[in-house]
Amino acid sequence: MATRAVIIGASGRMGQSLLRAARSFADLAITGAVASAASGALGRDAGELAGTAPLGVAVSADLPSALASADVAIDFSRPEATAANLAACRSAGTPLLLGVTGYPEQIEAELAEAARHIPLLVAPNTSLGVTLLIELVRTAARALPEAFDIEILETHHRMKRDAPSGTALALARAAGEGRDLPADEALAGAGAARTGARPAGQIGFAVLRGGDGAGEHDVRFLGAGETLVLGHRASDRNVFARGALTAALWLAQQPAGRYFMRDILFSDQRLA
Ligand SMILES: NC(=O)c1ccc[n+]([C@@H]2O[C@H](COP(=O)([O-])OP(=O)(O)OC[C@H]3O[C@@H](n4cnc5c(N)ncnc54)[C@H](OP(=O)(O)O)[C@@H]3O)[C@@H](O)[C@H]2O)c1
Repeated sequence: MATRAVIIGASGRMGQSLLRAARSFADLAITGAVASAASGALGRDAGELAGTAPLGVAVSADLPSALASADVAIDFSRPEATAANLAACRSAGTPLLLGVTGYPEQIEAELAEAARHIPLLVAPNTSLGVTLLIELVRTAARALPEAFDIEILETHHRMKRDAPSGTALALARAAGEGRDLPADEALAGAGAARTGARPAGQIGFAVLRGGDGAGEHDVRFLGAGETLVLGHRASDRNVFARGALTAALWLAQQPAGRYFMRDILFSDQRLA
């Protein structure tokens, strides 16, 4: 039987991309499409809304009802909705892939608590390429001497709300782990003003916004006389949608716990 999935944020850019990409996943059935209570998409057929054939699933604001007949929830809505969506999945016992970025730090404790009861995958970037990039950055940061400064440059479309991106922060955390830095030190440069000499050991961030690009990330290790650049380019949102659906299929089979995209990449299961 196909895995039944609910898309939360179905009317958004990523939601639509997920609805379109799901068409090519034979073992996945979209059984719920959820938007906000104020959404102009309520009542519309989710497939038609995404510009594909009708799906027979009406967009609704009733997440608990959608979860009642689902094997996994995929949340690409808004950070303001994360706490409520998490609570609904926890009380329904439904595995949750949280693709939203920019949610408040205080939710960390609720995420940890929920992961004791449901499979929870927090995935600030569901691209399989970025997932591997994060691992490469951790390895490079560990291997290279600390004299190499680490700078993270990210570029996104003009509508993106959070900055630096969730992926840039994940890359900084990975680089910090490679250097045995506590997470708060790894992220300290995220909001720091950039005047004067560069603080030694700080991970720097640079943010570009404009156009309609789906996301570019470069991590530069700048040494004396040489620079190593590890980077990723997403040419369209479909990359994140396909990765999220692959991950959701995997997550639906797991026991309760906190998972990361790397668990999927390095699991024994061969990815399609
Ligand atoms: N993990 C990844 O790989 C990845 C990739 C791209 C983007 N993202 C993240 O995914 C999120 C969505 O991005 P996007 O570009 O698709 O944004 P978007 O176009 O603004 O879509 C978000 C949608 O969520 C809906 N929404 C708001 N409140 C809701 C609620 N309480 N319940 C259900 N739906 C609600 C809104 O639709 P209505 O007004 O119609 O309700 C909105 O259209 C962002 O946090 C973004 O950073 C993650």
